[in-house]
Amino acid sequence: MARLRVAVVHGVNLDQLGRRDPRHYGRVTLRELERRIQAWAEELGFASRFFHTNHEGAFVEYLHRAEGLVDALILNPGAWTHYSWAIRDALELAGVPAVEVHLSDVSQREEWRRRSVISDLCVGTIAGRGPDGYRDALELLRGRLGSAGHADVAPADQPAPADDRSVQPPPSVPLPDDPSATDVPSS
Ligand code: DQA
Repeated sequence: MARLRVAVVHGVNLDQLGRRDPRHYGRVTLRELERRIQAWAEELGFASRFFHTNHEGAFVEYLHRAEGLVDALILNPGAWTHYSWAIRDALELAGVPAVEVHLSDVSQREEWRRRSVISDLCVGTIAGRGPDGYRDALELLRGRLGSAGHADVAPADQPAPADDRSVQPPPSVPLPDDPSATDVPSS
């Protein structure tokens, strides 16, 4: 049966999980986190895809392409959460239910992290639950969307975002093909 399609979109600095302060983020790498989310998504009947970028414009463009290609979004924009009006505007265009997730409890950290410019556009915000927060987000979406799925494949005239990880960085910025694929050994 066709499954609901969810895109899990990570923003700035989330590719550095495993190196970031473990008191807030634990030791899990982005790759391991995505693996866990993918397994939870399977269990809950979602087809999942993943995207990470450190470039705000690439994040915005990913949201531009989301309409019609995914049924739901899970977003952790990192620090952009707190000030990117551009990401907010793009999320409005996406037109699908979105859940905002933060690994850390942003309400208990610095003042500037307490503000989210996207939360009122989201059907829920989950913070401070570590990786399990993504499972909560999937469950929340499952509850809202029921089981009415769409085709797993993108319509022929509208190609899926080329492997979601492979959105091209600006030509002037040399980046490894897949920065999030670099696992950081946990100490
Ligand atoms: C974060 C919280 C943000 O304040 C921070 O800038 C991040 C990660 C989280 O997952 O807890 O990069 O979104």
